[in-house]
Amino acid sequence: MSPALSPDTGLPVSIDDTIVRLAGLDYLADRQLATCVYLALKLQRPLFLEGEPGTGKTEIARTLAAMLGRPLIRLQCYEGLDLAGAAYEWNYGRQMMEIRLAEGAQRETLAAELFSERFLTKRALLQAIDPANEVAPVLLIDELDRADEPFEAFLLEVLSDFQITIPEFGTVKAKQPPIVILTSNRTREIHDAVKRRCLYHWVDFPDAERELAILQRRVPGAGAELARQIVGFVQQLRSVELYKLPGIAETIEWTRALMELDAVVLDPVLVQHTLGLLLKYQDDIVKMQGSESARLLEQVRQEARGG
Ligand SMILES: Nc1ncnc2c1ncn2[C@@H]1O[C@H](COP(=O)(O)OP(=O)(O)O)[C@@H](O)[C@H]1O
Ligand SMILES: [Mg+2]
Repeated sequence: MSPALSPDTGLPVSIDDTIVRLAGLDYLADRQLATCVYLALKLQRPLFLEGEPGTGKTEIARTLAAMLGRPLIRLQCYEGLDLAGAAYEWNYGRQMMEIRLAEGAQRETLAAELFSERFLTKRALLQAIDPANEVAPVLLIDELDRADEPFEAFLLEVLSDFQITIPEFGTVKAKQPPIVILTSNRTREIHDAVKRRCLYHWVDFPDAERELAILQRRVPGAGAELARQIVGFVQQLRSVELYKLPGIAETIEWTRALMELDAVVLDPVLVQHTLGLLLKYQDDIVKMQGSESARLLEQVRQEARGG
């Protein structure tokens, strides 16, 4: 066990401790991200992570839950997500059935109970703040930019007070605040009111050194030279004007694919035939086919020679 574990809470005791414990679970955070995570935990504030897809936003919530031994409750956002899908819903079917079955005096007691916990279906947000929780979970509100804008208003009470007011029932408040991570791929701007209640961090693509370290952790079987060339190529690729730049997830997948093909180093044909693992838009692939990817590859080789 880590000697730096603070005894009462299990939270990291410093930024360095945060970095070390995340790395122990194969998540390599840069210092700026680790600082935000550390502070969010200490100050019990939600953490809002924005950045390109595949840069490790979702993964940090998973890693934090494992690191702190907390359950992970995940709310995947989508267009049309509403209160019933995200927080709670009255179980009308069950209410109807019990009303039908009740007789005489039972009916009156039932009427008083119709909006009690028994008939309440709890979804992610309500589950996360349930006072009955033995440990406060990690609540991941993932890809908030996919939900419709009005949905964000539902989150405000949860984010600032860790509570939800249900008109027919009352206010449900967490005994111990959950650890809340929100993510956005920034397909649209998230409202200030949400951001104001959170610590904010832009998750950037990693530099070459960290990406190589991540690759060595996530795909330990990859040869050193191949891994270095892959990272070099992907880093170059991110400076090209493309519709969608490859994230760390793509670097990892490409490496796995190249290993399947028994590649030891990159060559132009190999790169061309496997571009679909890095780029997911036909226009981007067309742009990078042929001489353009050969040129990038040549640059990677030159850098290796120290030129
Ligand atoms: N800092 C990191 N350290 C280790 N692995 C990482 C890191 N960032 C990303 N990854 C890897 O990249 C994958 C994709 O990350 P993910 O969290 O799904 O991206 P996002 O949610 O930002 O789209 C993860 O499953 C993980 O394997
Ligand atoms: Mg994600």
